[in-house]
Amino acid sequence: MISHSANDTQTIAADLAHRLHGGEVIALIGDLGAGKTTFVQGLALALGVTTRVKSPTFSIVNEYQVPDSPSPGLDQVIHIKRLVHADFYRLKNDAELSALSLSDEQRADTVLLIEWPNAVSVDLHPDITITIEHRGLDEREITIATN
Ligand SMILES: Nc1ncnc2c1ncn2[C@@H]1O[C@H](COP(=O)(O)OP(=O)(O)OP(=O)(O)O)[C@@H](O)[C@H]1O
Ligand SMILES: [Mg+2]
Repeated sequence: MISHSANDTQTIAADLAHRLHGGEVIALIGDLGAGKTTFVQGLALALGVTTRVKSPTFSIVNEYQVPDSPSPGLDQVIHIKRLVHADFYRLKNDAELSALSLSDEQRADTVLLIEWPNAVSVDLHPDITITIEHRGLDEREITIATN
């Protein structure tokens, strides 16, 4: 898909949000400024998260509660209670990753989104891989692959 703006990217993310059931691990691949965090913001908004999603660059992991009744008509997201948004860019080694105990976050009621998954050598077994590539100033090519 081609996105022409940050808004477009959030719309594409919202569309994916409506197909999630909970328990998914989503890898986000793309250069600095590609729009990975922007994508997560769109996905969170679509699930009814009211807190502003910020880049977990320094915190490494941020957690958001998904309200019980998200947007009307979204029966399929009712089982999703939490979004966990991680950014591995600043992880220095796999030991730091283990310390995060992310496997504890892989629950049926949680959607786990990971920016820079390839910064660690551990295979995270993502269910969905999203690749965002720069095509111009505001243009991005977004590929969504289910594994
Ligand atoms: N089509 C587009 N899709 C997404 N973001 C866009 C687009 N066009 C412009 N932008 C801008 O590009 C920037 C993307 O920043 P964002 O923090 O989402 O990138 P990122 O991939 O998470 O980077 P990082 O690797 O540093 O975490 C934002 O300022 C956003 O407004
Ligand atoms: Mg980011």
